Amino acid sequence: MTYSFPAELASTAVDIEQALDALLTAPRLATPGMPPERLVAAMRHGSLNGGKRLRPLLVRQAAGVFGVPPAATITAGLAVEMIHCYSLIHDDLPAMDDDDLRRGQPTVHKAYDDATAILAGDALLTHAFGLLAGEATHPDPVVRIRLVAELAAGAGAGGMVGGQMRDIEGETGFLTERAISDMQAMKTGALIRAAVRIGAVLGGADAEALAHLTAYAEAAGRAFQLADDILDVTAAPEILGKPTGKDAGRGKQTIVARIGVEAAQRQLAELIHDALTALLSFDSRAEGLRATGRYFAERER
Ligand code: IPE
Ligand code: IPE
Ligand code: MG
Ligand code: MG
Ligand code: MG
Repeated sequence: MTYSFPAELASTAVDIEQALDALLTAPRLATPGMPPERLVAAMRHGSLNGGKRLRPLLVRQAAGVFGVPPAATITAGLAVEMIHCYSLIHDDLPAMDDDDLRRGQPTVHKAYDDATAILAGDALLTHAFGLLAGEATHPDPVVRIRLVAELAAGAGAGGMVGGQMRDIEGETGFLTERAISDMQAMKTGALIRAAVRIGAVLGGADAEALAHLTAYAEAAGRAFQLADDILDVTAAPEILGKPTGKDAGRGKQTIVARIGVEAAQRQLAELIHDALTALLSFDSRAEGLRATGRYFAERER
């Protein structure tokens, strides 16, 4: 059968949506106590709302390089997606980017309130690690511990959270083009890197394969945020599902602000080239990762 990226993207989104729907209920989250309905509703609002599910897709595709079947990657993919959804809920808060629309719906703090949005994010973050530690993730506890460490690194002070801090600091300072790219490698790239490495660890990658996949993920991660910043200038908000033109309005330090859309698009093409080059030693089982790399530059939302 020939490989179809749209089919894999769509089926991953369905799998993740269904699994999140089943997991994020009060009874499933009720240990040791029953979570308040409002908290569960806000967690659901922030995660069951039409995200592209690209990070679980990367987990699936990286594991697929080693022949792991998609179903065996879902729990790890869910953990990464929960971290991503929490990061968006907090990113949209008035104290951060102050956005009212996400995935075509009111943001969590708009639909509920700031405190509920903070707590819903906290709960998703915490649940992600509980999920990853459980047996459904992988039968071998040594593998699960490695996955927990990968996700913690990608999500924490040296990764997403640290990058978000640099992003906020940048609103009132000046960053060089390199410093912007490094900030973006942390705020967005680190979780993309973690998704790919988690897939590789699930697949039992050796050190060399892991290094190649990490190089792919680091280039793709920089590309992903660069594309997000370009779309903030070029996309239609109805398609993007979130407001556009916000980065300039908030004085965000972006590559687009520094060098303009056309030069940013050239840089994006170079980053995708770097990502694909890192996959040269892999056979057709890396076709999915290649297609996702290309999609990162071509996507319209
Ligand atoms: C948006 O991520 C935020 C960034 C890290 C740039 P996505 O574009 O993956 O958002 P969803 O999950 O599909 O809504
Ligand atoms: C978000 O970057 C990165 C995160 C870690 C959440 P942006 O602030 O550019 O993402 P959007 O444009 O709001 O989705
Ligand atoms: Mg932001
Ligand atoms: Mg934002
Ligand atoms: Mg953005």
